[in-house]
Amino acid sequence: MIRIDRAAESDSNAIARVYVEAWRHAYAGILPDAALLQMSAERGAAEWSWIVRHRADVQPVFVARAGGDVLGMTSIGLSRGRDRPAGGSFEPSTLEAPVGEIYTLYVAPDAQDRGIGRRLLAAGLAELAQRRCTRSMLWVLRDNPARFFYERTGGQRIAERIEMLWGRPVGQLAYGWNDSGAAAARLAACPARES
Ligand SMILES: CC(C)(COP(=O)(O)OP(=O)(O)OC[C@H]1O[C@@H](n2cnc3c(N)ncnc32)[C@H](O)[C@@H]1OP(=O)(O)O)[C@@H](O)C(=O)NCCC(=O)NCCS
Repeated sequence: MIRIDRAAESDSNAIARVYVEAWRHAYAGILPDAALLQMSAERGAAEWSWIVRHRADVQPVFVARAGGDVLGMTSIGLSRGRDRPAGGSFEPSTLEAPVGEIYTLYVAPDAQDRGIGRRLLAAGLAELAQRRCTRSMLWVLRDNPARFFYERTGGQRIAERIEMLWGRPVGQLAYGWNDSGAAAARLAACPARES
């Protein structure tokens, strides 16, 4: 049985392992091999431990657990200024309420396609709705098939940009949800698909 929980500091090693494995699996051929090889679960564990301990209020982290294993993670917070898409209903000048952002969402490669990503996204959007973020968004690499997951889970494509990552231009797409709470409820209502 899979449970979604707020992460504890003791989850840091497992969070970092999921993060590194999912990056290498998802971004091979999209980001430079050298960047993927340089990633270290040990360094990542120290960073996640710090985030869980010191940033719980502004950057909460959720994990998907099955028994003692962490199978996925997401972290959320307010949309960072330069990351807020210009134009449309996400235009900064028209904003009164804060815009939420899904900063990270990763499921271990061998646990994908079992409904875990959807449940983590639901948890993140629900938490953002509680923090008055009616609207929420995220950025995904344009060549990452995960964008189809966001389309499947109701995200609207709202912007694109090109960022220099490791010295090469990388296309990115932003997806948005205009009602974080309603989207979370819809996703949470999907029947569990665990195995
Ligand atoms: C993207 C990711 C988070 C999705 O999580 P997941 O647990 O595999 O997805 P789910 O099983 O919850 O899928 C929910 C729905 O999206 C669909 N979906 C998921 N990934 C998809 C893909 N790559 N292409 C098309 N549809 C996809 C599923 O088929 C499912 O559809 P359904 O409603 O018909 O059942 C996960 O695959 C992952 O971590 N990928 C690698 C890292 C990554 O790219 N993260 C996102 C960074 S922005």
